[in-house]
Amino acid sequence: MCGIFGYVNYLVEKTRGEIENTLLDGMQRLEYRGYDSAGLAIDGDKENEVLLFKEVGKVAALRKLIKTSSADVNKTFVSHVGIAHTRWATHGPPSPLNAHPHSSDVTNEFVIVHNGIITNYRELKALLVSKGFVFQTDTDTECIAKLCKYVYDINNHRDLDFTELAKLVLIELQGAYGLLIKSVHFPNEVIATRKGSPLLIGVKTDKKLKVDFVDVEFPDFPEITVEPAAAVSSATGPSLLVPLAGSDLRRSQSRAFISDDGVPMQAEFFLASDPSAVVEHTKKVLYLEDDDIAHIYDGELHIHRVRREEGQSTIRSIQTLEIELNEIMKGNFDHFMQKEIFEQPDSVINTMRGRIDFENKIVTLGGLSAYLNTIRRCRRIIMVACGTSFHSCMATRAIFEELTEIPIVVELASDFLDRRSPVFRDDTCIFVSQSGETADTMLALQYCIERGALTVGIVNSVGSSISRQTNCGVHINAGPEIGVASTKAYTSQYVALVMMALSLSDDRISKRARRHEIIDGLGKISKQIEEVLALNDQIKEMAETSLVNQKSLLLLGRGYQFATALEGALKIKEISYMHSEGVLAGELKHGVLALVDEDLPIIVLATKDSLFPKVMSAVEQVIARSGNPIIICNKDENAFSKLKTTYRTLEVPATVDCLQGLLNVIPLQLMSYWLAVKKGFDVDFPRNLAKAVTVE
Ligand code: AGP
Repeated sequence: MCGIFGYVNYLVEKTRGEIENTLLDGMQRLEYRGYDSAGLAIDGDKENEVLLFKEVGKVAALRKLIKTSSADVNKTFVSHVGIAHTRWATHGPPSPLNAHPHSSDVTNEFVIVHNGIITNYRELKALLVSKGFVFQTDTDTECIAKLCKYVYDINNHRDLDFTELAKLVLIELQGAYGLLIKSVHFPNEVIATRKGSPLLIGVKTDKKLKVDFVDVEFPDFPEITVEPAAAVSSATGPSLLVPLAGSDLRRSQSRAFISDDGVPMQAEFFLASDPSAVVEHTKKVLYLEDDDIAHIYDGELHIHRVRREEGQSTIRSIQTLEIELNEIMKGNFDHFMQKEIFEQPDSVINTMRGRIDFENKIVTLGGLSAYLNTIRRCRRIIMVACGTSFHSCMATRAIFEELTEIPIVVELASDFLDRRSPVFRDDTCIFVSQSGETADTMLALQYCIERGALTVGIVNSVGSSISRQTNCGVHINAGPEIGVASTKAYTSQYVALVMMALSLSDDRISKRARRHEIIDGLGKISKQIEEVLALNDQIKEMAETSLVNQKSLLLLGRGYQFATALEGALKIKEISYMHSEGVLAGELKHGVLALVDEDLPIIVLATKDSLFPKVMSAVEQVIARSGNPIIICNKDENAFSKLKTTYRTLEVPATVDCLQGLLNVIPLQLMSYWLAVKKGFDVDFPRNLAKAVTVE
């Protein structure tokens, strides 16, 4: 998915080459989000000159292109603004033209990078075309750059401030955006703003900041009174001239950046859609909120809003990020996905750390404690998520039902919204997301907020939109997940959801024994994951010899293992591009059995639980049709002693039924990994996919 990175240096001398490298490295840190083209904008040699570089493919290709430029890499800039972008195509195919930054005109008066979608771009384009603008690209973003120039031109007699200009532009935009604007009319200044798309600002100064927050600046006079839609539909644009009464925006000084000695502070700012691009430069970051307009100039960061709303915070805090750069690097592994699979013994511990007292069998989730009673009283719990996160909900639904005795509904976010499913004030809605930015899940969250339900986030990315917009929640603390295929986030979401069910049921005496059994199981799970990871070589061999040339693969499971089958199939599809399907074993005889022959690989999840006899009967049905199953079973499982000599098995340790999926999914993660490696596919960046799907 698209990524934004910007770099501002103020009184910190940098060569053009250094600035280019900072921008390119920042974009490379965002690669894991998935993208198809990349571009950046920096200052040229002449006054008012902006250079744009755009290329299809990886950041490495853009780096190569920049190397061919004749611009002097040793030219120094004491102050400068550079903006960069990795694009995942939505409007128009990947091409250098469609790549960002987009420009207002041939002389690049305004250049823009944008994440999100402008839903009224057709109307804006029609207005701008009628004013003589010529569009070069298929994108929605180009209209923002041209709108900036249009607003600037029609107001040029009024000496507009960059913030005033941005306000007049933003009020016309509908849809979602994370946006950086750079302009030759405001040298060494940048506007950064967001609505529904994440954006944060890393701050690095030579002196200590005076305070660890930035004041939000509101207009003295009520607000802009122009009706945005009218301004556009009239196609005359005069309302874009409406003055911002009384806003003397440069009168204030940002308190954080005041130096004691009155000497201007050297400062660098790193603007990004994701903290992973910032963390190597600074740990001090400020997350912008929707509709914040950040204006960086003269080494200061100012945050403006068009209007003041009741109860709104008047400051944005500058937080210290906990994430370490080495946490997002590959280490000794060949791929991020492989590293993340092997991190699971640690990541599940991190999810439980400080939350489970194994000795006294107590689960404490700080982020939920104030809401537990409300949740216990709710009419039903609706779990909403997409993809792998949806599977973690499926995997834990039964234990939620059993422990809480509250009806549980599990919903795919997109389908939930399509159906406009009824939601009530006494519902609790749980939103599960690794990135915390998935558009479908976000929209479902808005939908539930509007209906007054209590909202809970189960999220990995701290500071993400879902974690900030839910009433309460649990961070899964799995650490950054870079591989597009989600692995450690799945097992940590699973553990977090089980902990939530345990926490909700800790007032029930009747559930005590069951709760204790599960807590004991969680206490051993990390070691058991290590044992399963030891199957790596066996799975690699199996993938490389008997599976790699197959066209299709079935996974059978029932009860707790249906979710494992679905998740295994998704992993295999998304990175090895092999068709695979997770099938509920009980449904086999209702149609799927027709596919079974001696060639089709079928993996059966047959670990021991109350449904084991039924799964065994599915194995027998497969064998009776000359099928050749691969059986994931528990070690020392006698029921298979005869079959083991004929059929392939992968033996995993046994745990409590509701936790067995945490172990069973790992051979499937490894299988998908080795299939993709053998086929020579890009494991971490599978085709057509993005890490954070921030469009509907
Ligand atoms: C998983 O391997 C996928 N890449 C995908 O299904 C993902 O889980 C889904 O897009 C939801 O993302 P989220 O957890 O960040 O919301």
